[in-house]
Amino acid sequence: LNNGLAKKPPMGWNSWVRFLCETDCVQNPNTCISSKLYQTMADFLIEEGYTDVGYTSVNVDDCWMSDARNKEGTLPANQTRFPDGILALAEFMHNRNLTFGIYQTVDTLTCQKYPGSFGHFKKDAETFAKWHVDYLKLDSCGLNGTLMPRAYKTMGKALNHTSRPILYSCSWPLGMLDKYSELINYTEIAAYCNTWRNYYDVLPEWDTILRIIDWYTLQQNTLAAVHGPGAWNDPDMIVVGNPGLTDDQARVQMTLWSIWSAPLIMSNDLRLVTASQKAILTNKDVIAIDQDELANFGKHLFFLDGFDVYRKNVTPVNAQETSLAFGILNRYNKSRPFHAPISILGMRSEKGYHVKDLWAGTDLGLFKGEENISFSVPATGITFIKAELDNR
Ligand code: GLA
Repeated sequence: LNNGLAKKPPMGWNSWVRFLCETDCVQNPNTCISSKLYQTMADFLIEEGYTDVGYTSVNVDDCWMSDARNKEGTLPANQTRFPDGILALAEFMHNRNLTFGIYQTVDTLTCQKYPGSFGHFKKDAETFAKWHVDYLKLDSCGLNGTLMPRAYKTMGKALNHTSRPILYSCSWPLGMLDKYSELINYTEIAAYCNTWRNYYDVLPEWDTILRIIDWYTLQQNTLAAVHGPGAWNDPDMIVVGNPGLTDDQARVQMTLWSIWSAPLIMSNDLRLVTASQKAILTNKDVIAIDQDELANFGKHLFFLDGFDVYRKNVTPVNAQETSLAFGILNRYNKSRPFHAPISILGMRSEKGYHVKDLWAGTDLGLFKGEENISFSVPATGITFIKAELDNR
């Protein structure tokens, strides 16, 4: 969507995967969906340095709303859990240089059975603008797939009619995946949305990470064709920081998402992230690959000795070539040695490449010609290297 927003893949924090629809603030005052939770996480983003590396949006998910619309047709936030309302919460974020995201669905009910936006798109768009919202996740939760294009376009136009730039995150293709996947028109989706969910929900489990990777790999040519500044495929949130993944598995998620130039929206409890998980989430070299200016959707290149080799074109570039980032994925339950001539990886620039291991933070040296590259890849893990053109 060409609305001047999301020139780079969006980065931030969302409550869903970690806090779900916890609404009991009496029993669970520190984990219930409330303004307090979002304010606490915003403070953590800043104090712990996540904002310094780019995580600057705080995004509300399902279950923020009242049980019913008011006489004017507006759907206010739940009074008990958001006593000062949404505008005050948005301003809390803006005062801290953060952006603020809200959640709704194209359905009559949200996934958690709160009132949805269907039939109220214009009203809700105006309300979100009035509340100084910067980002809308418009989910789909059961509305008939054939109605997706019309519903998402209607909300998109309504957002455009407000004078406020609002990043538009859609679940349009996901809403058509079950029965109508052959009708998905990605060109149209990319013209209306800044990001879009294509596939089912992520969980902090290795199996679901692999399932998303496999589906994205299978669909990579379709996805790459429409992907770029202002229009990003969204493989769902970053779950690093939760229990459930080993650190090596967590690196797999960050690597693949960066190779796809995916939105990096964490969903975790920032109070409980371990030091090693935090290092994974805030690795600047890795984030730079995600946010790289070429906005390339990196692809699965081939299988090699049981490794899945992914490659992305990145800066710096020269007249003929781009620098390259490689993710070498090892699905086996034991670490294994990787060994390959650099030429078969496509590193063919005559002057060679400075290679860095982005997770280890080590320089592997200058590689050129018919040289080989070797390293060990951890069990259910990945090696992420950047091969920078020697422009010196
Ligand atoms: C769907 C979405 C999730 C989350 C929930 C909320 O499942 O895919 O990301 O927003 O709804 O109910």
